[in-house]
Amino acid sequence: MTVIDKLLAKRGCHTLESSLSSYFSLRNMFVLTCCVSLLVLLCLPALDSTQVGSNDKPIIGILAQDLSKPPENKTSYIAASYVKFLEAAGARVVPIRINQTDKEYRRLFDSMNGVLFPGGGASIVSSGYQRSAKIFYEMSLEAKQRGDLFPIWGTCLGLEQLLLLTNGVSLLTRTNTSDVSLPLDFTKEAKGSRMFRDFPAELMDALALEPLTENSHQWSLPMEAFNRSNTLTSFYKVLSTNTDGKIEFLSTMEAFDYPIYGTQWHPEKNAFEWRKPYVEHTPLGVRLTFYMAEFFVGEARKNLHRFAAKDEESQALIYNFSPVRASAESVFEQIYYF
Ligand SMILES: *[C@@H]1O[C@H](CO)[C@@H](O)[C@H](O)[C@H]1NC(C)=O
Ligand SMILES: *[C@@H]1O[C@H](CO)[C@@H](O)[C@H](O)[C@H]1NC(C)=O
Ligand SMILES: *[C@@H]1O[C@H](CO)[C@@H](O)[C@H](O)[C@H]1NC(C)=O
Ligand SMILES: *[C@@H]1O[C@H](CO)[C@@H](O)[C@H](O)[C@H]1NC(C)=O
Repeated sequence: MTVIDKLLAKRGCHTLESSLSSYFSLRNMFVLTCCVSLLVLLCLPALDSTQVGSNDKPIIGILAQDLSKPPENKTSYIAASYVKFLEAAGARVVPIRINQTDKEYRRLFDSMNGVLFPGGGASIVSSGYQRSAKIFYEMSLEAKQRGDLFPIWGTCLGLEQLLLLTNGVSLLTRTNTSDVSLPLDFTKEAKGSRMFRDFPAELMDALALEPLTENSHQWSLPMEAFNRSNTLTSFYKVLSTNTDGKIEFLSTMEAFDYPIYGTQWHPEKNAFEWRKPYVEHTPLGVRLTFYMAEFFVGEARKNLHRFAAKDEESQALIYNFSPVRASAESVFEQIYYF
């Protein structure tokens, strides 16, 4: 609910109180409707509630991932665009390095307010990335049972990792989607979804009509395979699909009962990556980056974990590392190496 909506609802309720004894004019009917809607909003389950201003200092982890050709003394990386994506919406970032102990991951989980699984080329079956993703995914599910909402976002490889963690068996298929920007084919669930319901109509229209979403993946989950998996259909709500001309695949999803979200496309690239000619840097493309980031950081604001000590927080933050200019062959502008 926007501030304006809230003020209106509040004023409406007050008016109702003071005029209950008077006749039921059309206005009072309207006011009553406002109050009832407010009550309905207040009664929605935890996942849908807006806990305004609960955490204004959200800290979000980004998974580092294994390098196929590591520079000397380095083992993993994070593309800087994911860091900028979250920072642009008011979050601070902690790199989650691969091959830490379970205990170290648990301590980070208890200290942070969400985690992002970025895109890339690591194995989703066996890698440092896969191991840390699995640990955070399981901790998030377990936390939800205690009423502790710990949001997870998966982009591209991250979405594929989420699907595999949920389903246990990979249902991915090769698609011709390596280098293309596409409009989203929204499902009828999109408009009322947690992810998109507060998006401006102008941006939703642009998303549906213009090729704003950058796709650079060789694998996708066909809708036909998704539909056949009871595990997936009962866990995830599909918000959009796309097609490579032959195969219709899942492109945006949110979990029904968990604060878990994924896009097969890259919302961070419109504002922050310049290496591919088909990335849309138009004003609406760039707004897409910020609205997606704001949504996920908003989810993290509902989480109240924090570091036990300022020192520990300070040492964990990405500010202790510097990104470097990526090589000419890279798809990224800047990379953090660990
Ligand atoms: C890698 O680590 C070794 C041992 O600490 C050090 O001597 C060497 O200079 C490092 N190489 C680079 C490129 O930093
Ligand atoms: C990290 O762990 C994975 C398996 O979990 C292993 O394949 C990889 O070699 C390890 N990487 C490093 C740098 O230790
Ligand atoms: C793959 O898609 C591109 C358009 O994005 C098209 O130009 C190309 O012909 C397609 N390749 C195959 C093998 O279908
Ligand atoms: C998958 O299921 C949805 C909802 O039941 C349906 O609209 C869609 O056509 C199905 N898609 C495929 C490819 O089976």
